[in-house]
Amino acid sequence: MVDRRLRDGNEGPDRVQWRLGLRARDAGADGIRHPRTRRGVRVTTPTGRDHGVQDLVVITGASGGIGRAIVRGLVASGHAVVLHYHRNESAARTLAEEIGAGGARAFIAQADLTEPSGVGDLVAHVDQILEATPGLSLHGLVNNAARLLGPSFDDASPEQFDLYFALNTRAPLFLTQQLSARMSSGGSIVNVSSAGAHFSSAGDIVYAMSKAALESLTRNAAEALAPRGIRINTVIPGFTDNGHPALAVPGVREYVSTYALLGGIASPAPVADAVAFLLSPHAGRTTGTALDVTGGSTLGARPRSSKISLRDIIAQPGIAPR
Ligand SMILES: NC(=O)c1ccc[n+]([C@@H]2O[C@H](COP(=O)([O-])OP(=O)(O)OC[C@H]3O[C@@H](n4cnc5c(N)ncnc54)[C@H](OP(=O)(O)O)[C@@H]3O)[C@@H](O)[C@H]2O)c1
Repeated sequence: MVDRRLRDGNEGPDRVQWRLGLRARDAGADGIRHPRTRRGVRVTTPTGRDHGVQDLVVITGASGGIGRAIVRGLVASGHAVVLHYHRNESAARTLAEEIGAGGARAFIAQADLTEPSGVGDLVAHVDQILEATPGLSLHGLVNNAARLLGPSFDDASPEQFDLYFALNTRAPLFLTQQLSARMSSGGSIVNVSSAGAHFSSAGDIVYAMSKAALESLTRNAAEALAPRGIRINTVIPGFTDNGHPALAVPGVREYVSTYALLGGIASPAPVADAVAFLLSPHAGRTTGTALDVTGGSTLGARPRSSKISLRDIIAQPGIAPR
């Protein structure tokens, strides 16, 4: 049963809002918007299909700094996208409008992935999108949404532990389980981890543990998904400028720049490029592994104090950590 809002392309008043990005003038004679063409030459989908089917990728945390770059990279390589967000609806909406104005398809979907019902909410939206939009095939999932950094060994509480693990680990597992069931052979899943899982950081112990568990999910799910021709991999970013105001403060930039052997703070682009690669057929023999784009941050060459929480460092006066 297709939700009326989907059929009509209208938004409803529900807590969870989303919007179809299909513009009527872009649809073909059959009402389906096909992969874009240049000078009349048909462009195949990223996975090589050429019969009016376009690959759809779900990106969690698409309203965040790295998520937005991942979305733009996937749209540039011909994918339709579902932009998941939690609180920042305007960021998701603005990005979806930018994508729609460029002639591609974007859908937005809200869900609180710390709630046990959050995964079901997002999966239900994906089902509605697929049902209401002939010509889309679910190709990929990017588990990118997260609570970043902290809490420290001394400050951690069971409640915080549950919150971090619910978003950073539990949601990726069950989104992978449920959305992979809607993919066919060739599907691909990418988990966004962190350099923090690869060096000792008692100041961010719960975040680091949640990302280590996420990488374990990658390895273990690879075996389960391989017989169905579905791949799953991890991307490991280092410090990345996600637009957080603290990263504009020179002292903060200087401190976090010391982590990467290659120096500096990365832009989100290398993370987005790595995700696009792992979702593409070029990575067709790659599963259960990790692509490190940390600029050497994980090699352990830098002396560190285990007592410092990076969450505290970026919490400058007047700038609340997210
Ligand atoms: N930036 C870095 O230096 C860095 C380094 C290593 C790894 N990473 C990883 O890169 C990924 C993206 O990070 P980022 O830097 O882009 O962070 P960000 O800008 O803070 O974005 C975080 C995203 O997570 C979503 N989110 C937060 N709470 C949520 C909840 N309860 N339910 C569902 N979604 C929720 C946010 O949604 P709303 O904004 O809509 O609420 C936002 O889209 C994360 O997995 C992070 O661990 C980042």
